[in-house]
Amino acid sequence: MVMEGKGKVVCVTGAGGFLASWLVKLLLSDGYRVHGTVRDPNDEKNTHLKTLENAEENLRLFKAELLDYGSLSAAIAGCEGVFHIACPVPSSKVTSPENEMVVPAIDGTLNVLKASSEAKVRRVVMVSSTGAVYVKPGWPEEDKIIDEEWWTDKEFCKQTENWYCFSKTIAEEKGLDYARESGLDLVRVCPCLILGPMLQPTLNASSSVLVRILKGVEDLTSHSLLDIVDVRDVASALLLLYDKAEATGRYICSSYTVKASDYIDMLESMYPNYKYPKAPTEVDRDYVLSAEKLKQLGWKYRTLEESTKDAVDHLIKAGLISEG
Ligand SMILES: NC(=O)c1ccc[n+]([C@@H]2O[C@H](COP(=O)([O-])OP(=O)(O)OC[C@H]3O[C@@H](n4cnc5c(N)ncnc54)[C@H](OP(=O)(O)O)[C@@H]3O)[C@@H](O)[C@H]2O)c1
Repeated sequence: MVMEGKGKVVCVTGAGGFLASWLVKLLLSDGYRVHGTVRDPNDEKNTHLKTLENAEENLRLFKAELLDYGSLSAAIAGCEGVFHIACPVPSSKVTSPENEMVVPAIDGTLNVLKASSEAKVRRVVMVSSTGAVYVKPGWPEEDKIIDEEWWTDKEFCKQTENWYCFSKTIAEEKGLDYARESGLDLVRVCPCLILGPMLQPTLNASSSVLVRILKGVEDLTSHSLLDIVDVRDVASALLLLYDKAEATGRYICSSYTVKASDYIDMLESMYPNYKYPKAPTEVDRDYVLSAEKLKQLGWKYRTLEESTKDAVDHLIKAGLISEG
């Protein structure tokens, strides 16, 4: 078998996180050598990385913090490409938005991009979010198809204290500006809610949404539709966008838009013993979140049933929820 990445060295920021761990696994299995940045290589929450197949020979962990340019630059030096994934992803209300969210997301992104330019990498694939795409008042009146032309309204985020989407939007905008000025090849990926099995031992924010649904405590009253993508399919999208020379600009990465009530019904039919939250049966705002551009490049994704089953079974096995 020919391994695509044989010998190539790439950097993955925030390597120990939910999405990044799956990407590191995929890269290592494809023959890449990986420089993974983590805040603390000796923290137990990162030990899963060391047990991945080929990690012993091909994974090097670098201690790096998004606001410490030198630490990022050391990890990126000598790399052919960079996957910028690290960003705070809060699971509860942010109390100090500037320090906790805004500065690390924006300045961290610029630090990674500058270090990438300095290292003359071939391409940076950066993870943004649909939170930078479609958070605005009154949508989707103007159009039912949401594509890569859409941008979140930052003022609306400020008014609603949605600091995560505020920061992701500015980080992506500033990243784009920097790439235009410097000539850096930057591809931006905007995933929706990422679910699926976890490789890391600690619960990340999006997996905790599923835990709260299974515990019946997630408030779905204002969510008539859910946009869902499997973590393994996002990882494969990132690698596809790195590999394909013709990939350019921005890509929405979303597999399914489902009625929240249908999703709860599906979960209930698979796992009948949990107490599920009520979800609206009427859709208040209908839309199509289009991942056409990514599909045109050849992106494939799992069924929602497979993704959901693997996610819930993992949560049970890891003891993060009861068996119901
Ligand atoms: N999960 C989703 O539903 C979703 C949807 C759309 C976009 N995204 C984006 O996807 C990316 C990965 O998210 P995820 O769900 O995998 O979250 P995650 O598991 O929380 O991973 C985030 C990673 O970023 C690192 N990080 C945070 N602040 C940092 C800092 N100041 N310096 C260095 N590293 C820092 C974290 O390190 P520590 O472990 O040390 O905190 C962690 O490894 C993020 O950019 C997120 O915005 C996620």
